[in-house]
Amino acid sequence: MSDEFVTITNLDAHYGDFQALYGVDMHIDRGEVVAVIGANGAGKSTLLRSISGLMPNGSGQIKFKDADISGLRADEIAHLGLALVPEGRQLFPSLSVEENLIIGGRLQRPGPWNLESVYALFPILAERRNSPSTALSGGQQQMVAIGRALMANPDLIMFDEISLGLAPIVIGEIYSAIPDVIGQGVSAIIVEQDISKALSISSRVYCLQEGRVALEGNSDTITREAISQAYFGV
Ligand SMILES: Nc1ncnc2c1ncn2[C@@H]1O[C@H](COP(=O)(O)OP(=O)(O)O)[C@@H](O)[C@H]1O
Ligand SMILES: [Mg+2]
Repeated sequence: MSDEFVTITNLDAHYGDFQALYGVDMHIDRGEVVAVIGANGAGKSTLLRSISGLMPNGSGQIKFKDADISGLRADEIAHLGLALVPEGRQLFPSLSVEENLIIGGRLQRPGPWNLESVYALFPILAERRNSPSTALSGGQQQMVAIGRALMANPDLIMFDEISLGLAPIVIGEIYSAIPDVIGQGVSAIIVEQDISKALSISSRVYCLQEGRVALEGNSDTITREAISQAYFGV
């Protein structure tokens, strides 16, 4: 068996008549952290949504742990061990912190993550467990969104712009928790605007430009010149 854990081949995605992804090829190894960067509108969220089964009428192939998940429903894909921390967090506003976390655990996949271990990762959430999620700061809400994804004990976790709109100190706090999250054989895809952060947390990086992979490389050897060219196409 190869080490390839996720293999995406020739992936297209559309919103009505608008094509958002063109023939994307990508792979993620077991335990690997891959960063996806690119300008606003490049297709990063669409890529994560496609992998999660949230884009109807896509074409191409997505293999996850040797299963072809293209065409499966989002809930079927989640059951196989794939979790998304969506852009904008999308918590259930009328529910408490703890209720949001419990919803994440409804799949009852076995693994290290439960209320106790999520609270150990983000102690502030234990203090706020009975607060409505809307009463939390942006950073705390992001912790709930991450905790909710972890509660499913995923094998692949995808983070969409987790630092967007947060203060640097909070971003630091969240990023320092990530190695604990992916240190247990879990693979990750991290979509991040902050290029230095993206490169420091990942082993490989893909840059999307207008729905296409414009660049792929090792995070420690890729050059700034190559990245700016892939970002802006200049
Ligand atoms: N719900 C939608 N309906 C129509 N077009 C969309 C929708 N969501 C995103 N798009 C378009 O698809 C392209 C890719 O968007 P997106 O994946 O959100 O980019 P990114 O996450 O890289 O900023 C953009 O041109 C965006 O305007
Ligand atoms: Mg996005």
